[in-house]
Amino acid sequence: MDSELDWHSARAALEWQMDLGVTETILDMPVNRFEVVAEPKPAQAPVAAPVVVQEADPVAEAQAAASAAPTLEALAQALEAYPHCELQKGARTTVFADGTPNARVMIVGEAPGRDEDRQGKPFVGRAGQLLDRMFHAIGLSRTSPDAQAALYITNVLPWRPPQNRDPRPDEIAMLMPFLRRHIQLADPDVLVIMGNISCQALLGRRGITRLRGQWTDAVGKPALPMFHPAYLLRQAHAKREAWADLLSLQARLRDLG
Ligand code: URA
Repeated sequence: MDSELDWHSARAALEWQMDLGVTETILDMPVNRFEVVAEPKPAQAPVAAPVVVQEADPVAEAQAAASAAPTLEALAQALEAYPHCELQKGARTTVFADGTPNARVMIVGEAPGRDEDRQGKPFVGRAGQLLDRMFHAIGLSRTSPDAQAALYITNVLPWRPPQNRDPRPDEIAMLMPFLRRHIQLADPDVLVIMGNISCQALLGRRGITRLRGQWTDAVGKPALPMFHPAYLLRQAHAKREAWADLLSLQARLRDLG
């Protein structure tokens, strides 16, 4: 339209169009809607690459921590610092070991109970007192400084399970690298494996009634499964077999020289 058009003429032209029935205003030229370029979409934030969260592998971490420990003290520290075992949170102390580390005989029990958790030492409750009497009968003691007559004592689990429940397989699996390293570093002549949980952990087998008294190998050491002293407190008749096993241990030590 002529931009010079004056106001009155423009109004008259518009009214004339309205008189003719025009209801819509349209453009001078048709628009080809098929050619209309779509409005560009607002730029989207670049999609970040998915973050892969590496799940911790408790057994592999235990293996790495344990095998890096050059001494028993370092192993005890590595165990304290190990973050993946829930049992540690419920325990008062870490029960690492008792006795003489260079002893010829290393006893592996199951787990600390209430007394052990309080004192931070394995086998100090009633079962522990029976254990001391049993080994004393063949001339072995945890207080002897002489490696020939000494005992070194630990457990599969260094932390007391709540209500003394049995440890779960995943708990045993993550603590086994520490126990294996413990045995390597202490380097005893023989192992005594006390009870079913310890047989499960070190031999992969349960059934202490059949296993006891049968020499086998564990972690590269001659190993003798025995009834747990807590079982002997409940089943006095089994003391006869326990005595036979102690004599077998004594004979083996003599043979080994
Ligand atoms: N029973 C175990 O097996 N270990 C202990 O230390 C005490 C009781």
